[in-house]
Amino acid sequence: MDDRLRAHLELAELSDEEFVRRAYRFVLRRDPEVEALERTVPRATLLRELVASEEFARLAAIDEAIAAAGEGRFLEAPSGTDERLIEIPWALARVRPGDRVLDVGTANAEPAYVAALLGHEAAEIAGVDLAEADVPGIPAVVADVRDMPFEDGAFDLVLCVSTLEHVGRDNRVYGGGAEADPRGIPAALEELRRVLAGEGRLVVTVPCGEPEDHGWFVQLEPDAWNEEFVAAGFRVLEEEIYALGPEGWRAEPEFEPAGVRYRAAASAVLCATLAPVSGARRVARRARGAVARRGGGGTAPPTAPPPPGRAAG
Ligand SMILES: C[S@@+](CC[C@H](N)C(=O)[O-])C[C@H]1O[C@@H](n2cnc3c(N)ncnc32)[C@H](O)[C@@H]1O
Repeated sequence: MDDRLRAHLELAELSDEEFVRRAYRFVLRRDPEVEALERTVPRATLLRELVASEEFARLAAIDEAIAAAGEGRFLEAPSGTDERLIEIPWALARVRPGDRVLDVGTANAEPAYVAALLGHEAAEIAGVDLAEADVPGIPAVVADVRDMPFEDGAFDLVLCVSTLEHVGRDNRVYGGGAEADPRGIPAALEELRRVLAGEGRLVVTVPCGEPEDHGWFVQLEPDAWNEEFVAAGFRVLEEEIYALGPEGWRAEPEFEPAGVRYRAAASAVLCATLAPVSGARRVARRARGAVARRGGGGTAPPTAPPPPGRAAG
């Protein structure tokens, strides 16, 4: 039998409902809403609509960004996309075969990120989040990143994508509690340092620009983030700042934070790889007061947290 005829006949055997389910799973990688199951529309039209949707455009952009990441430097993402298009490939590009990996903020991770992380040849992957979530393939512990149930030096690599800025803040949108703890970020960094092996690395991505306190997260200037890292006993191994411009997301080696505001999503992100400095703790704690003051003063109007499931922050 002709291949094309076989394909037609196979599809004809599917009920309309089953076709819609499979189309959604294949294109949008999720189940359809009830209304989508109730629509009567030609099958080719449905596929055309799904592929033309903004939802698919974002999925495709993430796939393409991950595939094009290479060594994870000077990444690019199209305009109209959010910061995850930079943060995700930047972080994934730093996973090495054999790493014992901890993913922080795993409960709300993008499925494409989780799938790609599991595709790496890491020796072990664990997750931690305040919120509970079933993340197949990543044993996720429900815990506060400021106090984790892991041994000292348990991980070679900690990935902290778009999470540090939420620690000690109002996390109700993610299923956590509401806090306004100025020690949240330093406490998280110190705990992350504890669970890293001596030669370990912390990969962190955070929004940067003008200092802003949005209640559910903070945005800091790059210098202020770096002060936090150093004060917690890290040294910066590498760092890139990306900003959203008319051409899309691009690396900005000469980034100027003045006027860079968080809007519906970040306008700039700082991506860094940090290494623990042995014996740096005491110095770190002495520097703490100045850093905490600098990070605390937000002036911008707060933004609304995203609806559950949307990547932001
Ligand atoms: C914006 S989401 C980021 C999710 C994911 N990493 C990503 O890249 O899309 C922030 C996550 O941080 C988690 N979180 C906030 N504060 C936390 C804390 N103190 N300890 C552990 N997880 C925390 C939230 O529950 C949420 O899942």
